[in-house]
Amino acid sequence: MKDSALSASLLGWYDRHARSMPWRVPPAERARGVLPDPYRVWLSEVMLQQTTVAAVRDYFHRFTTRWPEVAALAAAEDAEVMAEWAGLGYYARARNLLKGARAVVAEHGGRFPETREGLLTLPGVGPYTASAVAAIAFDEAATVVDGNVERVMARLFLVETPLPAAKPALTRLAETLTPEERPGDYAQAVMDLGATICTPRKPACGICPWREPCAARAAGVQAELPRRSPK
Ligand code: ADE
Repeated sequence: MKDSALSASLLGWYDRHARSMPWRVPPAERARGVLPDPYRVWLSEVMLQQTTVAAVRDYFHRFTTRWPEVAALAAAEDAEVMAEWAGLGYYARARNLLKGARAVVAEHGGRFPETREGLLTLPGVGPYTASAVAAIAFDEAATVVDGNVERVMARLFLVETPLPAAKPALTRLAETLTPEERPGDYAQAVMDLGATICTPRKPACGICPWREPCAARAAGVQAELPRRSPK
C-alpha cells in the first residue's frame, strides 16, 4: 500500500474516532481552518510527557484557568507553578515550562515561534515537543515520534530490530508516512491509534484502520513488537 493510502485511511479513521481532549480542535473544525492555541498545545504536550491523558486533564484545566495565556504563566512565581504541578511528577518539566513561557514573552513578544526550528530554540522544548506543537498548532509537516508511534511503526512495517537500536529506522518510517495535508490531524491520529487500538498488549487488530496493511499482523507477531534489548 502506498504511503498516501496509509495516511488517508488513518485520517479517515481519525475523522470518525478522534478522542476529545480539552486542548484539541476536532478534525471537523480544523477542516474549516480552526487551529488550536499554541500555548495550550505546548502546555498539554509538556504535561503529557510520561503522564497519561486521563491524569493530565484536571491539571490542564487548573493551569489554563489560573494562567489562560503564556504571559500570565510567565509572570507567575516559581513556587506557585511548582505547587500547581504537584502530583504530576518529573518536576524538571515544571521548571522548563516556566523557562519556556518566560522566553516566549521576553524573546518573542509573547507569541510562540510558528515553526519546528523556531520552537526548538525555546528552553525545555526538545525534538518531540517542537514537532508536536509545529504539527498540531501550525500544521507543519513535522513528524511526532513517541513510544506509541514507535510501536505502531514497528508493527505496521514488521521491524524486528529491538529498541533502542531501532529508533532511527522507526523515525524514518514515521517520517515517510507524514502527509503534507493535515499533518496535525495525522500526528494526533497516530498517537490515538497507539493509545486506543495498537496497544502494547492485546492490540485490537479487528477494528484497526491499518489491519490489512499491517505486516506484523500478517505474520502473527503484533503482540511481540516492538522487541527490546535486554537491559
Ligand atoms: N500523547 C501526547 N500527546 C498527545 C496528543 N496530542 N494526542 C494524543 N495523545 C498524546
